[in-house]
Amino acid sequence: MQNSTVLMSSPEYFRIEYSINPWMVEGVEVNLELAKDQWSGLKSTIEKCGAEVKVIPGNTVYPDLVFTANSGIIKDKSVLISNFKFQERQGEEIIYENWFKKNGYDVARIPSEYKFEGRGDAFVYGEYLIGSYGIRSDKEALIYIAEQFELKPKIVKLVDEKFYHLDTCFQNLPTNNNDAIFYPEAFEDSSLKEFSDLFNLIPVSENDANKLACNSVVINESVIFPSDDIDIIETVADLGCSVEISDVSEFLKSGGACQCLVITLQ
Ligand code: ARG
Repeated sequence: MQNSTVLMSSPEYFRIEYSINPWMVEGVEVNLELAKDQWSGLKSTIEKCGAEVKVIPGNTVYPDLVFTANSGIIKDKSVLISNFKFQERQGEEIIYENWFKKNGYDVARIPSEYKFEGRGDAFVYGEYLIGSYGIRSDKEALIYIAEQFELKPKIVKLVDEKFYHLDTCFQNLPTNNNDAIFYPEAFEDSSLKEFSDLFNLIPVSENDANKLACNSVVINESVIFPSDDIDIIETVADLGCSVEISDVSEFLKSGGACQCLVITLQ
């Protein structure tokens, strides 16, 4: 797996100001100093795993801008920017659009009536577009993206509000066997066949899922988990992946962990 550059957004304005998923409880205080340390810890771990980290500045109006995974979907030098479901995050779109333009990407938008939340719900996997709909993103958006990027869609439906993005309940591993960890209860059963045709699906427990075990981030041959108290880590290590831990507990208050804080640029 080649992913040598990623984009993160600096955390100085991170806070819980509204609630758009069940993890976010209005009024819950974020320990900002701890959050900044955790964010820097994740950045260093990613660098240690061999990736360069680019940083887009935070923005005082948009606390969730820190979750760069939601910026869009990238294929080579082309980006399709997200159309956020909730008005609270829609202002992030132009910030990302400008960043990608300034950084030499060919930037386009998807039709505004289709909601889509970037790497949260979709990513390019060889000749496939792996995606999910049902909570934040629309199926039509995924079909549109697959057409634009000339990819075969492999699309599943999410059914649990707590696991509102694909990256909260699924992560493919850097092995040669299309291994992926996933939380079965988050998916509409009948749609999972799309994934089981392609991936060797390894279930995680509810306990692991609630620690956002599937929101680990893959950097080259390493898998960075958000906590060491996750049972599936042993299985992932036995598959030959190098395992790292980066505690991002402050960000779990917003429903995000390692993968949410990152998008792979190349
Ligand atoms: N509070 C953010 C939201 O609900 C968290 C986003 C996490 N990102 C992700 N890729 N799952 O939109």
